[in-house]
Amino acid sequence: MSNTSQQELSEATLEQAAELLRRKGVGKPDATIILGSGLGKFTKAIQNPVVVPYSEIQGFPETGVAGHDGALYFGDVGKRKVLAWSGRFHHYEGYPFDRTVLPVRVAAALGCNTLVVTNAAGGINFRFNVGDLMLIDDIISLPVRVSPHTRKFRHRYANDSLVNEVTHLAAKAGIAVTRGTYLYAKGPTYETKAEIRAFRIMGADAVGMSTAAELNEAIRLEMACLGISLITNLATGVSKEKLDHSEIAEAASLREKDLIELITRILSDPETPIYKPEYRFR
Ligand code: HPA
Repeated sequence: MSNTSQQELSEATLEQAAELLRRKGVGKPDATIILGSGLGKFTKAIQNPVVVPYSEIQGFPETGVAGHDGALYFGDVGKRKVLAWSGRFHHYEGYPFDRTVLPVRVAAALGCNTLVVTNAAGGINFRFNVGDLMLIDDIISLPVRVSPHTRKFRHRYANDSLVNEVTHLAAKAGIAVTRGTYLYAKGPTYETKAEIRAFRIMGADAVGMSTAAELNEAIRLEMACLGISLITNLATGVSKEKLDHSEIAEAASLREKDLIELITRILSDPETPIYKPEYRFR
């Protein structure tokens, strides 16, 4: 049932959504993954999937952005149970942050405590190229209260040690990755040249219009979490190209195979660090 009201969702509504998913065969996920624009093909790597369109879930808006299909997939990735969200809710589409973090909250209600988030982002760092995969080691998002449910002071995403370990995992698999700080910008218009210059001075390596709220919500829920950006374009002013969203599909097709392989390893490799208890934020 779709519901895009501005009210905050109650725990009872979340529990109802979780109950509906359990009835449809969704069990306790070892990990959940939110798939960014153009990155939905990972769902094909999920074995024995249960597929549930968002429109059937209590409290879920429909998604309306190209490259997002608006359904969840629950199934096996190696020996792990994974809940994948193909289609996310952006604040720039008019959803309050409360709704943008629904996948994280529903996963948590199902007993999941590990989150991976992928997104398309613009490269700010001069060393970045289109097609780079950037492990997010920190976030800049101002104003900072992007987790709508946070009522107290707490530390926030800063993920150096996990990013170090995942960098090793990627190297062993022969997948080139870089790392950096993701800056959340509200969008939906692209940034100005001056904004990108300012963001670079602030310490940002890439910019995008999602992810920060989801990661901060996962931290509030004491999950382990990791964000990965696919650099789909160089940010405004870094290159002379005009930005129009079509580059997302092009860049995605460049690195799709690598990204799917990387995510599969992060979620299911016997040596994956992401399930180590020390990486849960507390
Ligand atoms: N800016 C903001 N968000 C983005 C970009 C960008 O250049 N590319 C992909 N998502």
